[in-house]
Amino acid sequence: MALLTILTYPHPILRKQCTPVTVFDVQLEKLAHDMLETMYDDEAVGLAANQIGFTQRLLVLDATEDASHPYILVNPEIIAQKGKEKSKEGCMSVPDIYVEVERAAEVTVRAQDIKGNVFTIENATGLLSNCLQHEIDHLNGKLFIDYLSPLKKQMIEKKLKKMACRT
Ligand code: NI
Repeated sequence: MALLTILTYPHPILRKQCTPVTVFDVQLEKLAHDMLETMYDDEAVGLAANQIGFTQRLLVLDATEDASHPYILVNPEIIAQKGKEKSKEGCMSVPDIYVEVERAAEVTVRAQDIKGNVFTIENATGLLSNCLQHEIDHLNGKLFIDYLSPLKKQMIEKKLKKMACRT
């Protein structure tokens, strides 16, 4: 297992539309486990593959408080959604920024597991729903700050530039 380097905004790979995974091999499995380790190490709830530079449709997440239910999702798709809900979000690729984002309250997601078997997560709510939508957005090159008004987004971009100068 190994910790992976997280790409941060405005890295162009974060804007990439990721391509479907077609090869389910030991390398993919190793990568997924390294992603989980990296996510837990950072106390995050989810991580998408392009955040670590791999531009295929793979993500990991664990929305439990005690890190007891890891998910590995390959080629995930939202197949149903219901309602609207606002909640505060952050992202490992956009450090120190936390903003309210409105998303679907409930989602059903179909994906493949690390071996390629299809499974669904039915009627996910709360943090799990939120995290599924945030991570699937990543695979489509979309970031949570894209939901903000242009003015608010500009303010955040300024703040991120200042932070980058300090390091
Ligand atoms: Ni993120």
